[in-house]
Amino acid sequence: WDSRPLKLWRYKELLPVSREPVTLQEGGTPLYHLKTIGEELGLKELYAKHEGMNPSGSFKDRGMTVGVSMALQLGMKTVACASTGNTSASLAQYAAKAGIPSVVLLPAGKVALGKVAQALMHGAKVIAIRGNFDRALEMVHDLCIKEGLYLLNSVNPYRLEGQKTIGFEAIDQLGGVPDRMVLPVGNAGNISAVHKGLGELIKLGFIDSMPMMTGVQAEGSRPVADAISKKLPEVIPDKNPETIATAIRIGAPVNAEKALRAIRETNGTALSVTDEEILAMQRDLARKEGVGVEPASAASVAGIKKMAEEGLLDKDERIVCVVTGHLLKDPETVIRQCEPPTEIDADLESLLSVLR
Ligand code: F0G
Repeated sequence: WDSRPLKLWRYKELLPVSREPVTLQEGGTPLYHLKTIGEELGLKELYAKHEGMNPSGSFKDRGMTVGVSMALQLGMKTVACASTGNTSASLAQYAAKAGIPSVVLLPAGKVALGKVAQALMHGAKVIAIRGNFDRALEMVHDLCIKEGLYLLNSVNPYRLEGQKTIGFEAIDQLGGVPDRMVLPVGNAGNISAVHKGLGELIKLGFIDSMPMMTGVQAEGSRPVADAISKKLPEVIPDKNPETIATAIRIGAPVNAEKALRAIRETNGTALSVTDEEILAMQRDLARKEGVGVEPASAASVAGIKKMAEEGLLDKDERIVCVVTGHLLKDPETVIRQCEPPTEIDADLESLLSVLR
């Protein structure tokens, strides 16, 4: 494999597609050493895998290159999804590349601006429902069954096949298996996908240990974290999830069972962080590391900060946090947090006086 570029299709033998894939050259995202934040927390080996550097700006592209390729392989004519934003942006983009129509259902008023802009510009039929993501997913599911559309939410196993490559790449880039992998959890597809992929590498004899799978949710939307901390046999849905991290504003994760298994089998954990902790980490990543991510993505690193401060991890651990989406996805949340630009008259004297 060494001669193949570090891109998703490097791992094609471990993916289900047998036709020419619909690809926008996804994968091969950077793995950054978070030196400053790591030092502050006493962690020498803290890394962020920046999935916001994929073509549509989130990890969803890994799922969509495989999912949309499979839609064509299976002869499906129209693809659809419900989304908190990123899945819709990615689906619209890959459907455009494939030359097929796409339909996306969004929770009205709860999707970050950049994501809606992408779905619209790439030509999806964009429908905003007066209800939350969980309801949108039920509706699109019924629609797909009734009208024969191809559903590309993470209930679709091919989506998860693509997303499992995050773990493959992290190992390739680190030159070994990290002790812990940390992911923000919404519908719980991504953490399940990474776990599945690493399990396959073990079966194939490429690696001999699993990282502790660690999921981070927002405090107002934390059914998986609750199930872990209360040692429940299953996840109890949250009817009214709420968080500034709209990407993970999900109360009834469809992959909950798989995620619980991933966490429990690997001796991992799940925890929640507040919106304030999420936004503070979004700023720290941006200002101390030069890594620009959307709020949901900062949750993974905010979770590690909390674990380090509360003594819930070994400081020698080699930790990979998956940061899932790009800063530009949600410009409104950024603008609300930051000082506005300083406006001045167009002369040098004014410029010098504000800089002094
Ligand atoms: N981070 C971001 C930026 C996301 O967009 C999502 C999910 C997650 C994390 C959580 O991943 O659902 O696999 O546990 N976004 C979906 C969407 C739900 O519609 O874009 P998960």
